[in-house]
Amino acid sequence: MYKAPLIVQTSPAKRHIGTTRLDQGQKMDVIVINGGKALEGTVAVSGAKNAALPLLFASLLAEGEHTFHNVPRLKDIDSTELLLNHLNCATRRVGNQLKVTVNRPDSFVAPYDIVRKMRASILCLGPLLARYGKAKVSLPGGCAIGSRPINMHIEPLLQLGAKIEIENGYVIAQTGKLVGDRIVFEKVTVGGTENIMMAATLARGTTVLENAAMEPEIADLAHCLRNMGARIEGEGSSVISIEGVDELHPCEHGVIPDRIEAGTLLISGAITGGDVRVEQCVPGDIQTLIMKMRESGFDLETGEDWVRVKPCDHWTAVDIDTAPHPGFPTDLQAQFMALMTQASGTSVITEQIFENRFMHVQELVRMGANITQKSQVAVVHGNPGELGGAPVMATDLRASACLVLAGLAATGKTVVNRIYHLDRGYDHLEKKLQGLGARIERHPEAHI
Ligand code: UD1
Repeated sequence: MYKAPLIVQTSPAKRHIGTTRLDQGQKMDVIVINGGKALEGTVAVSGAKNAALPLLFASLLAEGEHTFHNVPRLKDIDSTELLLNHLNCATRRVGNQLKVTVNRPDSFVAPYDIVRKMRASILCLGPLLARYGKAKVSLPGGCAIGSRPINMHIEPLLQLGAKIEIENGYVIAQTGKLVGDRIVFEKVTVGGTENIMMAATLARGTTVLENAAMEPEIADLAHCLRNMGARIEGEGSSVISIEGVDELHPCEHGVIPDRIEAGTLLISGAITGGDVRVEQCVPGDIQTLIMKMRESGFDLETGEDWVRVKPCDHWTAVDIDTAPHPGFPTDLQAQFMALMTQASGTSVITEQIFENRFMHVQELVRMGANITQKSQVAVVHGNPGELGGAPVMATDLRASACLVLAGLAATGKTVVNRIYHLDRGYDHLEKKLQGLGARIERHPEAHI
């Protein structure tokens, strides 16, 4: 029987980097940046990775053909398709549209080989269990940004009546019809909220989620589930109520814009002193970033679906503490740190969500930044104009974006290695930056 809490640590002895295992002899692209050029122009944001992943897994709740629009082209989406294919679903992409035809799976297993590539694979657990009463999902394991427990996915499912065992690295779950209950999350979890929200749509009776995550991606999932026939209220607040229904039907749904990509592109303009208009985004979803950038001295204009950062040659240090939405997103912490290396003054950056999300610090230091770090706090002594290009190593998705941003601001050439992390979560970032005039190129690199 499952025993809480379940904490899966990454062993440094293994060649696990991020969520991807490197095989000897594998060839890796690198990104080469010749920095120091102010970016200018307009750039459109793609669909949100963190919205698209749960939406695609939600399709498992209803057999038939679902159509998703604005699905970004990412490695994590490829991994999700692979898992859905393994679960007997057909996927077909035309441009940014992805059709998923869901059929009853022959096996209800999410195998290690797929799950290890993408932790969000755990999101198939709730839908499979609710729809078919069984699921066997590989434990995702830790990743470079720290231990990544799943106790807040498992315990609520137990509360809804599932029987769960952990055996040979797999979560093995089965149930009759799930039964609604009051779930109080001990801390805010995006994935936990999504998994239980999906499971509860087909439970008997009402489930109330308290201390639920309030991220825009949760609201997008709720909208999609409602299109499928689910009864959900309260998304976007910390209390979500789900009244179970007997069955759901396939849907057509457009993925919301990626707020983290929007923020990253905005910072690309800011850090180069450029003039960049980021379009097809939701400014309200990056309100905290906009506020912090204004506090720092940037002049930002916003419209209904765009944000523009105007040229600025001097900005001052501001502090940030990451927090669940609507707080400052942990997924923009690394990128904001790059910006603060070029500010006047000292910025204190506190990472409250993940315990090990500062691996970009040492790489920034190698580029000439002055940063000291202790535990969850990094102190950035800004030194405008002092970043110099260097070969650097990306260690996780958002750290990669931070290094690209630093490279854009640096004098000389920066080579960012291990950019498969970037490809997991950014839809052709280098092409979008090229469109803004950046001197950035992707090159095939020697064998690792
Ligand atoms: C999601 C996002 C990720 C983002 C993170 C926090 C996706 C696919 N990924 O990740 O980009 O950085 O939210 O905004 O949407 N925790 C537990 N037990 C659990 C689950 C989580 O203790 O069962 C802890 C985590 O270790 C972390 C915190 O809760 O400290 C928040 O994690 P969570 O919100 O669950 O992150 P993810 O959903 O994995």
